[in-house]
Amino acid sequence: MKKRILFICLGNICRSPSAEAIMKHYVKERGMEDLFYIDSAGISGYHSGAPADERMQQHAIRRGYELTSLSRKFYPDADFENFDMIIGMDDLNVRDLRRMASTKEEREKIYKMTDFCQRFSYRNSVPDPYYGGDAGFELVLDLLEDAVEGLLERLED
Ligand code: 4NP
Repeated sequence: MKKRILFICLGNICRSPSAEAIMKHYVKERGMEDLFYIDSAGISGYHSGAPADERMQQHAIRRGYELTSLSRKFYPDADFENFDMIIGMDDLNVRDLRRMASTKEEREKIYKMTDFCQRFSYRNSVPDPYYGGDAGFELVLDLLEDAVEGLLERLED
């Protein structure tokens, strides 16, 4: 049975598509593709159908991550059922997910990405890079690489 993981941010054009791509990259490197189903979605549907933000794509490709997914909205009915872990990027994402959960079982599927960070443990969110500059996009990738490593270690235990 595959572990089904869904990464969530606000627009699904910067942080969560990057988390999805990094996780897929690490899983492939480790030859563990058969063990995971990985996807991402946004709390908002503002950018539904759009590719990842061009700036995010440029920063990601320099580290070898190709952002191929198209933005889609989070659908509580289907996604709480279809995924084992639903991982928000910041406190607002987690709050919104909790509000949409209708059972204890659904609430227990919700996590925050930075909970898996090991090197960047002092940070409590993956900050939204949308209105910032280059440093914000690099920080997103630094935090996501750290968190994905931590998440994989947790899942391998
Ligand atoms: P993301 O970034 O949540 O990491 O995809 C954002 C993208 C778009 C907007 C906000 C955040 N927006 O307001 O359009």
